Amino acid sequence: MLTFQSAVTYLLALAIPVIYLTYRHYARPQTTQIPAEDSKKPLKSIMQGPRDDLEPPKDNPYTTEALKEFDGSNTSKPIYVAIKGTIFDVTHKAEVYGRGRSYNIFAGKDGSRGLGKSSLKPEDAVADYSDLDEKDLKVLDDWYSFFQKRYNIVGKVVGDEKGDAADPPPANL
Ligand code: HEM
Ligand SMILES: *[C@@H]1O[C@H](CO)[C@@H](O)[C@H](O)[C@H]1NC(C)=O
Repeated sequence: MLTFQSAVTYLLALAIPVIYLTYRHYARPQTTQIPAEDSKKPLKSIMQGPRDDLEPPKDNPYTTEALKEFDGSNTSKPIYVAIKGTIFDVTHKAEVYGRGRSYNIFAGKDGSRGLGKSSLKPEDAVADYSDLDEKDLKVLDDWYSFFQKRYNIVGKVVGDEKGDAADPPPANL
């Protein structure tokens, strides 16, 4: 005989698996998406974000020789990194560009080739990027826009006085 109590028990016994399966069905796409998104976050957050306090770009000329002064070896001076002839002030990231730091190889010079090739070799930290393939040119341009959003532009690299041309700046300069 079906009492009220056993009817409730019966309905609950039926409902719980149905609710559970419905829940799992709809919940699953989300539970698999969340970790996938999360796994990207630590990588992104390692790099500094863009700034909104940048100054208008300056156009001061620096020879390759003059630029060397700003390689982080004198901590009283700013640190400059040039990409495709444009000079960025990276002093606020002295902990990565300063003397003895991981990316000091790019300080006080135009190291476009190394940035494009994702190479930290000293012989690649040169301004001439003319032989990079399309993929590496894209990497280089991505670095340019990364720097543009984070560092003040203080000038551009120009040919040395002795006539020893620095690398030709981009055509639009
Ligand atoms: C396994 C290899 C690498 C790892 C784990 C790594 C890791 C990192 C990390 C954690 C930062 C952030 C540092 C900070 O802002 O304090 C960074 C920045 C940077 N990485 Fe790498 N890196 C690697 C290889 C390279 C290579 C081969 C290049 C050569 C182009 C490179 C170029 C840079 C540059 C230029 C920055 C500074 C960006 C900025 O101005 O904030 N990295 N890297
Ligand atoms: C470091 O830079 C400061 C400021 O430009 C300068 O007065 C000083 O002489 C420099 N020191 C060395 C060792 O070159």
